[in-house]
Amino acid sequence: MDPAPEVKRNRFPSMNFEAEILTAPHDNSELYVIPSMRSLTAEEYAEAFKSFLDHSTEHQCMDEFNKEEMPNIVAGLGNGKSTINVLGVGSGTGEQDLKMIRIMQAAHPGVLIDNEIIEPNPQHVAAYKELVNQAPDLQNVSFLWHQLTSLEYEQQVKEKGAHKKFDFIHMIQMLYRVEDIPNAIKFFHSCLDHHGKLLIIILSDSSGWASLWKKYRHCLPSTDSGHYITSNGITDVLKRLGVEYHVYEFPSGWDITECFIEGDPVGGHMMDFLTGTKNFLGTAPPGLRRQLQEALCQPECSSKKDGRIIFSNNLSMIVVES
Ligand SMILES: C[S@@+](CC[C@H](N)C(=O)[O-])C[C@H]1O[C@@H](n2cnc3c(N)ncnc32)[C@H](O)[C@@H]1O
Repeated sequence: MDPAPEVKRNRFPSMNFEAEILTAPHDNSELYVIPSMRSLTAEEYAEAFKSFLDHSTEHQCMDEFNKEEMPNIVAGLGNGKSTINVLGVGSGTGEQDLKMIRIMQAAHPGVLIDNEIIEPNPQHVAAYKELVNQAPDLQNVSFLWHQLTSLEYEQQVKEKGAHKKFDFIHMIQMLYRVEDIPNAIKFFHSCLDHHGKLLIIILSDSSGWASLWKKYRHCLPSTDSGHYITSNGITDVLKRLGVEYHVYEFPSGWDITECFIEGDPVGGHMMDFLTGTKNFLGTAPPGLRRQLQEALCQPECSSKKDGRIIFSNNLSMIVVES
């Protein structure tokens, strides 16, 4: 077992706050614990994510990838079999899944698509089922939901001893809350059939998130699992696994102008999503608040367009071969 972390206290006069400093036992990195601040719960995160989608081009960016690259990526799937087996990990409410399934249907007319979904949030599973019920064009597609986390699914598969193989597995914007990312990637890669592909969509190192997390992660409360991961973190894991992969970069932006309007409730929620903190503006020390708002305006994080401030939300689409 790791020894208990050493606790020190320190004042940060330039930012005008006092914090406990924990030294993480595994890598000696420092984390500042500011007692008033806490992470978003999974439900609060899901709520904040919805509002983020409304103000960002995240899904338009994925649409662009679907149009430009997905037809080629899915062209060889299934290797001539009558059924293509697909697994979505952390699929949320299913919009992205259905778009990709339709691209597979177009590339493989008449082939059956067996689609399994791992999604722990019951509201998301219910919304996904509703979306399927309302879709008129999914006759050749079967759906099976596992209301589990990726780790619970892995444990279930290992207990059963039956290891189903898939032709296409995707993990889209979901690795941030997975407990052991290298293990999850290794496990789901092992679930690929011959000629199968694993698609990971994650924030790019060219995004504003990457520079924000590099500078300020030690001041923010850790998320449930505390993973501030971007594309390079994933490709490091893939290199260690010795697997082949290709990275596609697509630009995306998030209009965060409201974050700079004093007392604006939408801006307050945006700051919560940006920092992973519940009521960041109400609970963070004033110095940290000011520093973060200044950082958000820097060119590494955002650009100005038509008087609006657009935070860079660039995405990396990583396609891993079996
Ligand atoms: C940001 S949403 C992305 C949803 C969808 N893939 C998309 O791009 O629209 C992340 C999803 O991962 C799910 N999730 C969170 N932790 C998970 C875990 N440990 N295993 C599997 N899914 C998880 C959440 O419930 C949520 O639906």
